[in-house]
Amino acid sequence: MLKQSEQFALALHFYLTKIFSEHMLAGLQDATFEFGARTIVRDATWHIQPNEHIGLIGYNGTGKSTLLKLLVGEYQPSAGTVERSRTTTIGYLHQDLLSFDTKDSILSVAMGAFEKIFELEKEIDELGKEIERENLSDLGGERAELLLHQYTDKLHEMEVLGGYNIEHKTKEILQGLGFSPADLERPFHEFSGGWRMRVLLAKMILQKPDLLLLDEPTNHLDLPSIEWLERYLQNYDGSVVIVSHDKFFLDRMVTKIVEVYQQSLHFYLGNYSFYEREKQQRIELQQRAYENQQEYIRQQERFIERFRAKASKAAAAQSAMKKLDKLDRIENAELERPSLRINFRVDKTPGKILVTLKHVSKHFGDIEIVKDASAEIDRGDKIALIGANGKGKSTLLRMIAGAEKFSGERIWGYNVDESFYAQHQLEALNLNHTVLEEMQLCGSQKNDLELRILLGCFLFSGDDVEKRIKVLSGGEKARLALAKTIVSKANFLLLDEPTNHLDMHSCELLIGALNKYEGSYILVSHDRYFISKTANKIWEIDDHQIREFKGSYAEWVDWKERREAERDVNNNSNKKDKNKKQENNNTAPPQPSLETQSIKQPTAAAPVNTPINKELKKELQKQQRLFQQAEEKVNALKKRLSELENKLSSPEIYSDKNKFLQAESDYQKTNDELSKVNLEYEKLFEKIMDLEQGGDFRG
Ligand SMILES: Nc1ncnc2c1ncn2[C@@H]1O[C@H](COP(=O)(O)OP(=O)(O)OP(=O)(O)O)[C@@H](O)[C@H]1O
Ligand SMILES: [Mg+2]
Repeated sequence: MLKQSEQFALALHFYLTKIFSEHMLAGLQDATFEFGARTIVRDATWHIQPNEHIGLIGYNGTGKSTLLKLLVGEYQPSAGTVERSRTTTIGYLHQDLLSFDTKDSILSVAMGAFEKIFELEKEIDELGKEIERENLSDLGGERAELLLHQYTDKLHEMEVLGGYNIEHKTKEILQGLGFSPADLERPFHEFSGGWRMRVLLAKMILQKPDLLLLDEPTNHLDLPSIEWLERYLQNYDGSVVIVSHDKFFLDRMVTKIVEVYQQSLHFYLGNYSFYEREKQQRIELQQRAYENQQEYIRQQERFIERFRAKASKAAAAQSAMKKLDKLDRIENAELERPSLRINFRVDKTPGKILVTLKHVSKHFGDIEIVKDASAEIDRGDKIALIGANGKGKSTLLRMIAGAEKFSGERIWGYNVDESFYAQHQLEALNLNHTVLEEMQLCGSQKNDLELRILLGCFLFSGDDVEKRIKVLSGGEKARLALAKTIVSKANFLLLDEPTNHLDMHSCELLIGALNKYEGSYILVSHDRYFISKTANKIWEIDDHQIREFKGSYAEWVDWKERREAERDVNNNSNKKDKNKKQENNNTAPPQPSLETQSIKQPTAAAPVNTPINKELKKELQKQQRLFQQAEEKVNALKKRLSELENKLSSPEIYSDKNKFLQAESDYQKTNDELSKVNLEYEKLFEKIMDLEQGGDFRG
């Protein structure tokens, strides 16, 4: 018999489940789904309620896109059910952009959202005609009333649906997503993958479904469009499920996280940062529980081993064995994290200058990309090419790679071996090839065993290399295309949006690999974090010129802010004041270090002969020496720290209390020292920046 309190709890549970499922828009109930032998989720239950903003996350290939396909009914679960309320409308944005193609204009594709309104328009039109045709007064009173009733009903419905300014609304949304008014009549198929995605996104937004399922919507968007999407979604009335690997985006967009992890769904009632904290705690708990259970299992096994043969204890051993068999095993939390092992290698060293662009111009019809622009890429350059979509970043990258025609000169340096990674590389993968076949055909002259080892580094192990490309997840495709880029051992990489589709963990590993890479690269990315970790120069296309900033992204942002502040000040101050400043050259405001062109300026152009400049230069050299020393110190300390970390986790040390305490205190000391030196390092850096800006020694 259940106690009264238990009965109450049970009743409450049923009641709540009932309320929730009555309001549910869609969901899974004890659903299991597998691809052949591979289980994606087991017994998963997830109810999506109205007004929820949910982030669906998980490592690449864990099954996020598959779950969305289950929800819309593209796949069926092998056990359990997928539930959708009859009235729920669902909008689903695919991760795969190739599945839709048409010659219709983008405006008409987006306006396809109003199918229902077009139908309604037709009905209203027909009703109107009928009313006109049959002179109303000739009709029987009832019939007339019915027709008029229907007519006004439809008009009302039209109004509710907001059917009277659909073209205006469509244009507004398309322009919010970055299309120019001139673009709207161009055919859909003329646009690149990223832009097509926006059209489909616009269409879906216009449909205003009760439930939006967005599979990695930010992958192809630039910052202004992402911000636009954020604002839009924040005010969205319906529920939204967003698959994304962008934690900043998730943090702002969602209030609930569903994680696909070890074939189950895990729920977190908060944004991404909340998830991160909470997950850490859960992992620790799980790990402790796992270790305790392992200890228990070992004990039981020892017991069984010892007493199995003894008649007096055989029964007890038997029962222990049964118990062990039935035990619900806790998974080892530490096993989960897959690890990409990207290792970029360089075959040969190139000359000092890799590429020179001289007076290059490029336009598409009326759209000017660059005009008479010049720039140079040197050995050791790690350039991030940034700026809004439509400025031509990818075009410039293709021009450098020689994959796009232009006027002007591109001079290739000595011994340069380039490799180009871009969205179209992903789209160019042959969907019918297996992973291994794709690698065999990329002309690397490696044998199958070598290719399998390389693919293993990109997490395609064993049978995975036999998978057809058409079934690969977004991240898996990206990894394969990256593997193809890397197999060449190039000393110069051109990377267009390399972090698209990659989960955060893989993204970190890519950063690590690029930091170790001995060659040079130029990359296009809208991921601020990624850029800030990988670039030592920033290129921006501005006013159809290539503007170069020698410094990291953070410095660039800082510089830009300062420049804007200065501009404000200058605008406010009166002319007289300005003239005074110009007279006094020595105290001129810091010169921006952004150069119009990276072609080295002839020294005659810079006033290096004035004494003040000589002194500044000397000081700069001194600071640079100190900076180098500090850098060496930082590196040495970091190395020491990592040695100590290894030591701390070695059994030899942690099993001996004294040794452990000693190592721990060494670690602490080194860490403190590192903080100090880091501070010094940053100060020196700032000093150098100031000096450089004051004297304009760059270039
Ligand atoms: N039709 C299919 N047949 C066999 N395996 C498939 C099929 N579709 C997907 N898979 C595999 O199932 C796994 C889950 O794929 P899914 O696309 O759902 O992952 P995901 O979580 O969306 O990953 P990503 O973050 O990379 O987009 C992947 O390993 C993928 O290769
Ligand atoms: Mg996916």
